[in-house]
Amino acid sequence: MVKAWYMDNETTDQRLEHHRNPPEFITLEELYNKTGVEYFSLNVHTYTTDGVLDKIKKERGYSYEDEMVCSKECLANYEEKIKSFFTEHLHTDEEIRFILDGSGYFDVRDGSDQWIRIAVSAGDMIVIPSGIYHRFTLDTNNYIKAKRFFIGEPVWLPHNRPADDMECRQRYLEKLHKGFVAAH
Ligand code: LAC
Ligand code: NI
Repeated sequence: MVKAWYMDNETTDQRLEHHRNPPEFITLEELYNKTGVEYFSLNVHTYTTDGVLDKIKKERGYSYEDEMVCSKECLANYEEKIKSFFTEHLHTDEEIRFILDGSGYFDVRDGSDQWIRIAVSAGDMIVIPSGIYHRFTLDTNNYIKAKRFFIGEPVWLPHNRPADDMECRQRYLEKLHKGFVAAH
């Protein structure tokens, strides 16, 4: 089950929860309003036949999908990969992930440049907008299996911060300032 909260600024071990003291959890609606990150809850046992994922894919035009496993055994250059995932970056397209097994953290910046940590596990599907600064890390379980989706030919290239002059960044900031509720 997904949970989101404001992080403290400590990053001595990126795989821990790093709550503020006292903790500041936010709801999925607040997460959307503050960042434009969207969330869907899917059933990992029935998603191939229950139609929920199919409807999302159709409505949003997700024409490409694959599956990836992130673990010490399955990823070549594991430590290096984890380091690059955790380097703050953005993409020219949405980052869409549906977690099938395991768990991890997506960190996204809010409009005041504060980190919000989103804990994801089986059944959680999140859509990180293009142009938002974010990063990813595994938690101490060191294992996640996820489906990735894309509209058209996939482009996974991360643009590390600073990437403020990019068009996708400018467009993201416009949406942020207009408000995601109105834009939705
Ligand atoms: C990605 C995640 C790690 O870009 O943000 O695949
Ligand atoms: Ni990314």
